[in-house]
Amino acid sequence: MTALAASLLERIQSRRARTGVVGLGYVGLPLAVELAKAGFHATGIDLDARKIQAIEQGRSYIPDVPTSDVTALRKAGKLDATTDFSIVRELDTINICVPTPLRKTRDPDMSYIVSAVESIAKHLHRGMLIVLESTTYPGTTDEVVQPLLEATGLKAGEDFFIAFSPERVDPGNPTFQTHNVPKVVGGLTSDCSQLAAALYGTAIETIVPVSSTRVAEMVKLLENTFRAVNIGLVNELALMCDRMNIDVWEVVDAAKTKPFGFMAFYPGPGLGGHCIPIDPFYLSWKAKQSGFDPRFIELAGHINGAMPHYVVDKVSEALNTKRKSVNGSSILIVGVAYKRDIDDMRESPALDVMGLLHAKGAHVAYVDPYVPEVHGREWSGRVDIRAVEFSRGTLGQYDCVVIITDHKTVDYDAIAAEADLIVDTRNAIKKPYPHVFRLGAPRPAAQGENIAVT
Ligand SMILES: NC(=O)c1ccc[n+]([C@@H]2O[C@H](COP(=O)([O-])OP(=O)(O)OC[C@H]3O[C@@H](n4cnc5c(N)ncnc54)[C@H](O)[C@@H]3O)[C@@H](O)[C@H]2O)c1
Repeated sequence: MTALAASLLERIQSRRARTGVVGLGYVGLPLAVELAKAGFHATGIDLDARKIQAIEQGRSYIPDVPTSDVTALRKAGKLDATTDFSIVRELDTINICVPTPLRKTRDPDMSYIVSAVESIAKHLHRGMLIVLESTTYPGTTDEVVQPLLEATGLKAGEDFFIAFSPERVDPGNPTFQTHNVPKVVGGLTSDCSQLAAALYGTAIETIVPVSSTRVAEMVKLLENTFRAVNIGLVNELALMCDRMNIDVWEVVDAAKTKPFGFMAFYPGPGLGGHCIPIDPFYLSWKAKQSGFDPRFIELAGHINGAMPHYVVDKVSEALNTKRKSVNGSSILIVGVAYKRDIDDMRESPALDVMGLLHAKGAHVAYVDPYVPEVHGREWSGRVDIRAVEFSRGTLGQYDCVVIITDHKTVDYDAIAAEADLIVDTRNAIKKPYPHVFRLGAPRPAAQGENIAVT
């Protein structure tokens, strides 16, 4: 190890290193808090002044981070936040946790990474460690981050150190949080790897070193592509089961009793969130540049992307049994967050389902204990809508209730008892009822009804 690297290592081990996190969202704020809890002084940098203000007031805006932690760390003088990148001059380490969305054309949007790295570069100094955490395609750290930082005249691996370490946080997961999810780390050089591993080792229980930044980048894309493809597979199975009058939920539950060689994935109304619908296309884009056509990713994308349309077909089928059309019907969506028990609506399939129903002339309302309002810019209906109160006695007023996200606090028995017609995309209502149309499952016939089996 060079003397410069050894000096930073000593500062990390003694907690005298000043740590920084750029991008204080779902990933960055928990990390800044863990670093501060590990004994470092941690500074968050974000362009969003509201986030900086919240931290200055000792308040958390991320559900997985208790406000009490932020307040205590503020009081102890361990955590602060700013919009001003000139603070980089005082920092020894920086973790970059900015967004990596897709453009409409499904190409990676690297503008957030480029902007954050350019802002850091203006104040980069010898002896710093810069770690990228944003999910991105293999090659980003050495093809994009390294040249931008080296434009300062300093050399990566000698004057400063860079690494990639994918974030694996699972928002809303009470068991696995930042500190106990193993952290994969790949540096540009051996010194870079050792320094990044040492930094994370102070706050995270298990470190998994890999040989390069590109391996670390690819690890994350394998993990998320694995999920996207398996969800695509089980969604296709659900469509098959629907046609064949077999209950896909019963099939998956029985299959998962196999103690080896099987992992349960469940069908649903489509993919949501910042990761699974997006990350595989970062890989796909990069692979195509090498002349490789990644077929699994594209196929899973087609199947998962069509699920909201299938849900709308189910709604139409359900209404048909009551001699009603989607056009003019009043439809209540239950759950608009992209998954259970969180408030995040990014890429939520609920927004697609709502948009499709609205386009067909339905009057759409929603209920979600975590999301008080859906803004017009977030869905194709273009109007702001507020969540309706979920109260017994009001469900009968809707022509159809569509369960998109199965938050635990929602009373599904009340929905089953009171709603006239239900489309359940999550198997939230376990008992079979003639008025409940479950995704990928047959339903019992109502009295006098003749269900055609094809
Ligand atoms: N949310 C997850 O569950 C999750 C899980 C694993 C990995 N990731 C990855 O982590 C990265 C961050 O995701 P997130 O969910 O925390 O995003 P987020 O949108 O919650 O937070 C990103 C933050 O970065 C800030 N920001 C944007 N540009 C900036 C700049 N130039 N300088 C400073 N701050 C800037 C934004 O204001 C925002 O506060 C993404 O690459 C994502 O794919 C997310």
